[in-house]
Amino acid sequence: MQADLERVLFDEPTILRRLDEIATQISEDYRGRELTVIAILNGSLMFMADLLRRIPLPLKLDCLSVASYHGKAQTSGEVIFKQIALPDVMDRHVLLLDDILDSGGTLSAIREKLQTAKPRSIRICVLLQKKKARQQPVDADYVGFEIEDEFVVGYGLDFMERYRNLPCIGVLRKELIARPNE
Ligand code: IMP
Ligand code: MG
Repeated sequence: MQADLERVLFDEPTILRRLDEIATQISEDYRGRELTVIAILNGSLMFMADLLRRIPLPLKLDCLSVASYHGKAQTSGEVIFKQIALPDVMDRHVLLLDDILDSGGTLSAIREKLQTAKPRSIRICVLLQKKKARQQPVDADYVGFEIEDEFVVGYGLDFMERYRNLPCIGVLRKELIARPNE
């Protein structure tokens, strides 16, 4: 799998060191508050598991599963919610966790939907944020790493559902994106 990478951006120790820092920040910000973490599946699975074990606060954990369709002609990609019921977040401080902030379509749709459940606050934490203009006005409150606008895989991030179990994050070789079956 690692041979499919053009280059490694962040190895496992680098990721975990950064998670120590973000976890400290989150723990300070949410001390004494009713925190509900909502992880967006499947991309945030590794990130969630490693980050939450570094946050020594009482918290509730829920997951949301969505499918986004990219590459269509519309300005904002369509986001399909796979659950019927939303997590109960009434009066709670919600922290959304996702793997990567790209166009902003996914997180903006999720945030809008969660607002209807009347949480006290919603913040966003992403492992990666691409340096580019967003199609939707979404800002992350906590960011692991800023990256260039390149397609990356590993540590939860996939290309056609592969590479999620790579322990590092890297740029996928361009020819594999163009011809994934070869
Ligand atoms: P957005 O809605 O465009 O912000 O995209 C968010 C979702 O697109 C992420 O949760 C990922 O699943 C996927 N995505 C965007 N960029 C990448 C990438 O470079 N590698 C893997 N998945 C990506
Ligand atoms: Mg994905």
